[in-house]
Order: sequence, then structure tokens, then C-alpha cells
Amino acid sequence: MKLGVLTGGGDCPGLNPAIRAIVMRALDYGDDVIGLRQGWKGLLDADTTPLTIEMVEPIINQGGTILESSRTNPADDEGRVKQCLKNAEDLRLDALIALGGEDTLGAAHKLAERGLPCVGVPKTMDNDLSATDYTFGFDSAVAVATDAADRLKDTARSHRRVMVLEVMGRHAGWVALHTGVAAGADWILIPEAPFELSEIVDHLKKLQKRGKHWGLVVASEGVKLPKPAAAAAPATKHDRDDFQHDLLKGVGQYLAAQIKDHADIDTRQVVLGHVVRGGPPTPFDRWLATRTGIKAVELVHEGRFDHMAALQGNQIVGVPLKAAVGELKTVPLALYEEAKTLFSR
Ligand code: F6P
Repeated sequence: MKLGVLTGGGDCPGLNPAIRAIVMRALDYGDDVIGLRQGWKGLLDADTTPLTIEMVEPIINQGGTILESSRTNPADDEGRVKQCLKNAEDLRLDALIALGGEDTLGAAHKLAERGLPCVGVPKTMDNDLSATDYTFGFDSAVAVATDAADRLKDTARSHRRVMVLEVMGRHAGWVALHTGVAAGADWILIPEAPFELSEIVDHLKKLQKRGKHWGLVVASEGVKLPKPAAAAAPATKHDRDDFQHDLLKGVGQYLAAQIKDHADIDTRQVVLGHVVRGGPPTPFDRWLATRTGIKAVELVHEGRFDHMAALQGNQIVGVPLKAAVGELKTVPLALYEEAKTLFSR
């Protein structure tokens, strides 16, 4: 068979180990594998590269993606859908393996319905894809964010300050929640849970009273600010990127200013941003990426198109792409409440 592979959406650690596993498993079947550069754009432009064992063998520990990525999504435009189908035929692809999050795999699902034999591999540092317990990229992002949080605690303690750490995660608070718990944060804010500023301020003041003169607040970039504040603070304005996604920014800046004003504690904020998307994948992400990559090739050979390799418990299974992209997997409020035990006293 001839297989095409692409990586779409925001990059994350684990993409290279997954590409490596796909190529290695495909070799077992005697398949020929090519890469499409820059996600779906590579199929639209028929921009390809061979993928050989020599290229992929050393990339198990490399962040980023050797295939490059973009947020190009061809699925909502009939002309682009037809172009993708034509190019896949011209390239003589028997199957296409798409590594991505909701957008990329949503496109894979729509194109599969139009006859393109697609299989998905779930990746996103946001961990917000349904039908899989975890996505690779998440564990690596939390590891980097936790390391940053631990460092911020050291300097916060020295200067009797509150440090506000803003982390990515888009509309899901997984990264903030896991980082906050791992770092022993004094407050965690996630988009799923509405918050009262006074609750945080009172809590930080209480810490001061009991002799803890510093603090760490971890906030997800997608946290919804109280309405009047959101309207008044220019830094929280949501702009859009080239692909009509909200650019989330300003949460950390807003919170730091409010804490300083209302709790009267010296406060600084740090936006970690894309730092968590680079660097070597953690061993867990290398393992997960490798196993889902292998499974994707097996799904192709079983003819189970329009499916995705997913982690359920400790098994890698095939699930319909539709189940993965239908609804975002956000943090259940009960889990957030459980974590609150750790930072509300
Ligand atoms: O979806 C992954 C993600 O890293 C989000 O957490 C973040 O909001 C977004 O991508 C950033 O996108 P970009 O790389 O386009 O700035």
C-alpha cells in the first residue's frame, strides 16, 4: 500500500515518535510511506516528502514535527475538498493517516465521508479530544509547566510575592489543573469553572495571615473573566488568528493586576505560552505516540477507515472519528472541586 502521513494544527511533543512508529510498522507490511508537508496544506498543494527509516529512526526524542504543521482546514470548502480528493488520487494514496486534534481530525472525518480513506492519530497538548483517555503532548506540556511553576515558587518565596502563571489549553483546563495540582498551587483557574475574584483575594489574604507570604496561582488562558472586567480590560480582548480561532490572551495580566490591587500583595505574572509545545516528549508521550502510531497502520490494514487510534484504559483501540470530534472533552466540575480541597484552605 502507499500511505500518506500529515500532522495538522498546533504542534506538540510526540508527533515525531508517532511518525516514526507509523513508518516502522508500515515497513512490516511492505508499505511505501510519504509525508505531506504542513498538514492538510500538503495535500491541497500536493507537497510531499518521502519518509524513510533513515529519516525517522533518530527522531524518538525530538519535539516539533519533521512534517511541519499548519491550521489549514480544507473540509468546509467544496473546491478544496475536491482538490484534496484529486491530489490523493494523483499521488496514488491508498490511505491517509492524519495526526491532529479536533480540527485536523474533524477534517479527516469529513473527507473520509467523501471517500478519502483516512485514519486518525490523536494529539494535542490541550488533552481535549473525546474518545481517548489522553492525547500525547499533554504530559510533556504539564511537565514543562510544572517545572516552570516550581521555579516561580522559589522566587515568589524569596520576594514575598504572588506569581500568576498563565498556561495554554484553549477551552479546556486540563493543563492548568494538572500543573496546579502537581505544583501545589494556591489557586487554580480553569475555563470550565466560573470564579469570583473576591474568593481568590480572600484566600490569598488568609494565607498571609497564617504566615505564608507568597503564593502561586495557575490560570488557564481560556478562563472567562467576569463580564464588566472583560469589557474594561483591553488585554482580554479576543482577536482571531488567520483561521478564525480566538487568540486567547490577557488572563494572567488581568488576574495579577486584580490581586495586587485588592489583596495588596506584590504580584507578577508569567505567560508560558508556546514554551510548553517545544522540547523532547516525556517518556509517557513517546510511549503513547508510538502505540497510537502503530495502531493507525493496523487500522489501515484492517480497512477501518474513518477511525482513530485511541487510549482507553491501557489498551489502544480503534474508535470512530465521529466520536472523537463531536464534542470537546473538558474538565468535569467534580474533578475541579476535588482539586479545590488542595488550594482552598
Ligand atoms: O491547541 C493547542 C494550542 O497550543 C492551544 O493551547 C493554544 O490556544 C493554541 O494552540 C495556540 O495556537 P497557535 O500556535 O496558533 O498560536
